[in-house]
Formats: sequence, C-alpha cells, structure tokens
Amino acid sequence: MSIELEKILRPVDHPMEPFPPKFMTLADGSEMVVRQVGREDMPSLLPHVAQLMLVERDQYDIVASRVYAELLSYYTHRVQDEYVLVAQIDGELAAIVNGRLVNPEVGMSYHTLAFRRGLRVGAHAFAAKMEYHIDILKQKEVLIVAESPIGFRRWMIEYKLEKRFHIPHELGGVPSWALTKELFDAARGSLIVGRRPVPGKLLKKAQEAILPPSDPPKPSKFLMAATRAKNDPTGTSLMLQRWKQEGRG
Ligand SMILES: CC(C)(COP(=O)(O)OP(=O)(O)OC[C@H]1O[C@@H](n2cnc3c(N)ncnc32)[C@H](O)[C@@H]1OP(=O)(O)O)[C@@H](O)C(=O)NCCC(=O)NCCS
Repeated sequence: MSIELEKILRPVDHPMEPFPPKFMTLADGSEMVVRQVGREDMPSLLPHVAQLMLVERDQYDIVASRVYAELLSYYTHRVQDEYVLVAQIDGELAAIVNGRLVNPEVGMSYHTLAFRRGLRVGAHAFAAKMEYHIDILKQKEVLIVAESPIGFRRWMIEYKLEKRFHIPHELGGVPSWALTKELFDAARGSLIVGRRPVPGKLLKKAQEAILPPSDPPKPSKFLMAATRAKNDPTGTSLMLQRWKQEGRG
C-alpha cells in the first residue's frame, strides 16, 4: 500500500541531457569547476546550506531556507525535473545553483547561493545554469526572480532581463523576468565564460569530495541589529533559534 502511494506522490522526471562540467579562472587566479551533482550528493550539501539559514545579511536566510527545501525535495522525489549544479574551488563548495524545466521550451531558475564572497562565484555559477538551459537543453527562455538587491543587480540589470510580469514565478508567485536566447547570446564571452573540457586532475579533485566552504557567510554577532529587520525588538525569537541550532538549551 505505501509503495503504491509513493508511486503516486513521486513525479516522473523527463530525460534531461547532463550538464558537461566546465571551469573558469577567477579574479584571484584560482580555478573553479562547475559540475552537475545527483540526488546522492544532496546529503553532503544540505548541512552547508543549513548554516546559512540564520544569516540575515543579503537575504542569505530566505534564500538558504528555500534552497534547503528544494534540495531536500530533489533528494526525496518531491519536485519534478529539477537539476543541481555545484561550483568548487580546490574541492571546496563555492556555490550552488538549481532550477527545473517547466516544459521543453521554458526553464525555471530557482536559486544561486554563494559560499565565498567577492569573486563573482555566484555570477559564474548563475551563468553556467543559464548555459545549461539555453545551450544544452535548447530552451527558448528561463524564468527568473531576485530575492535580494545583489541578485537583482546581477541578473535583471547585468543581463537586461525582459519582463514576464503576467507569469507568477514558482518562488513566491512574484512577477517573473526572463532570459531569452537572444539575451544569452549577447552575454556570451562577457558574462558567460569558462572552458571545456575540465583538465582531468581538476575534475578529479572536484569529484572526489565536496569539501566544506572554508569561509562561508556567518550570522551577525549583533543580534539586535539583525532583529530590527524582523520586527522583534527584544531579539528573543532569533536568540532562541540560534541557541537551538547551536545545540544550547
Ligand atoms: C547574489 C549572489 C549569488 C551573488 O554572488 P557573487 O556574484 O559571487 O557576488 P558576491 O556576493 O561575492 O558580491 C556581490 C557584491 O557584494 C560585494 N561583496 C564582496 N565581498 C563581500 C562580502 N564579504 N560581504 C558582502 N559583500 C561583499 C561585492 O563587491 C559585490 O559588489 P558588486 O555587485 O558591486 O560587484 C550572492 O551574493 C549570494 O549568494 N547572496 C545571497 C543569496 C542570494 O541573494 N541569492 C540570489 C537570489 S536572487
């Protein structure tokens, strides 16, 4: 009976071409590999995403909370046609990007989460997922929203995205923006960079293990500052949440 029910609850994914791994050189000279990961890799990503759920700065908290749910849904077969790409520097997790197919022609961009700041790792990882939709999966456009001002600058402004405000995005039902094939082509070589194939040694290092990010964004030490945004002048709810996560009373 439960196996029968699971068959109903579990959507059947459409076949998708895999994302061929790529690499790019960052501003500090380090090389970053972007590659697709599968369901079996989700348990090694989830704890790192969870760490960001209490970082109020730059909307890390809302984005990490949603990414956590999306990765868990992927792991437990509760979302259809999702994919996940990771960016790694020396094996270390630098960014996660994900999305799904709405239909063969339209893609839905979910999130971009950067674990290292200041090197445009998020921007490069986002570009790789756009490449996946447009070049590899041959889609006509990708629906996108931003939850943070940095995201808005990175996607809507840098790519000059088009409005699709009549289409509610899956992230909160807010009005969508779209990256079309034409906009993607215009960004080739500037916003969209990277090379293939990834040298064997570099790829092997990335595939060996997803190492924890060494300097991820951390929650503010100043709880009162953080709680102002949450309309909780006593800071109580945030402190309780934090203590629980740290395993304190
Ligand atoms: C949006 C995001 C993916 C962009 O990643 P990115 O391209 O690697 O860019 P960074 O976050 O490193 O830098 C963004 C800006 O903050 C500045 N910045 C650099 N180091 C920083 C730091 N340690 N702390 C805060 N800001 C920093 C950068 O100078 C950059 O400014 P610019 O836009 O003028 O270049 C990333 O900021 C992120 O994960 N944010 C939280 C989740 C989120 O909002 N995701 C997108 C949802 S739409």
